[in-house]
Amino acid sequence: MKNPKWLDALFDEHRIIRRALNTLLLSASSTYILGERELIEQVLPLYKEFEDVFIGSYHYRKEETLAVLIGPLATNGYRMRKVFTECHIILRDMFKDLIIAYDLGDWERDLASRAAIYYEAMEDHMEDEEKTVFTGFLDAASRAGINDQVIDQMFKEIEESLGGRFRERMLGLVSRMEEKLLDTIQKSNTAAINVANVKLCERHMMVKETIRKIKDSGMSRLVLINDREPVYELLRIEGCFDRSLFRAKQLSEKIWVSMIAFKDGCK
Ligand SMILES: [Fe+2]
Ligand SMILES: [Fe+2]
Repeated sequence: MKNPKWLDALFDEHRIIRRALNTLLLSASSTYILGERELIEQVLPLYKEFEDVFIGSYHYRKEETLAVLIGPLATNGYRMRKVFTECHIILRDMFKDLIIAYDLGDWERDLASRAAIYYEAMEDHMEDEEKTVFTGFLDAASRAGINDQVIDQMFKEIEESLGGRFRERMLGLVSRMEEKLLDTIQKSNTAAINVANVKLCERHMMVKETIRKIKDSGMSRLVLINDREPVYELLRIEGCFDRSLFRAKQLSEKIWVSMIAFKDGCK
């Protein structure tokens, strides 16, 4: 059965949040592993605005309004409301802690680690919503006979309260974040990718393709976000890998960042 429009919209917003979150993690961990502050300086102010407006005032507000409307009708209504209200407060506090670390001038380990912990928590939360909570909403809404248009209208009012061209402005903000990261990191001849959430069997291919692009474009380094230290895999798959310059640090339970350099002139 086809999802109602309001549910597709929530899934779509998660995709937009994931793009921004990925950029934040890449910039904080690259700042740390490369020792280049400019990366986080360029990205964090934009993410801060995105977190405040798109995540806080828009996406969370939609979910929480939905929980108020549907929660009392759902069998797991208590859990649904808890997921939305309490988790959102905790996630927003985690981000505020990251900002405090940044404002205090901690540009290195602490900031990167806070970004990784925040990233993991956000990913877990969205996964939980996608796998169980949204289905609960859908069931409760159809059992109670709530018309999809009522929810669509509720969502539309929230969007309108945030000013004209909202979606366009927010997508522009995310694209700017991505461009800033790319422009800044390219200045130091480096590329960055995050494969922590990519399926294991697809990761190798993605890393190999990125390394190929790095060599073809004359860059010399790769910042890789992964869920483990990848040194033996790199030795096996990449002949130009310079082990003497390799650095890897664990930032959170599931997130590692590595700095991978390639031998000069090696193709
Ligand atoms: Fe949420
Ligand atoms: Fe969500």
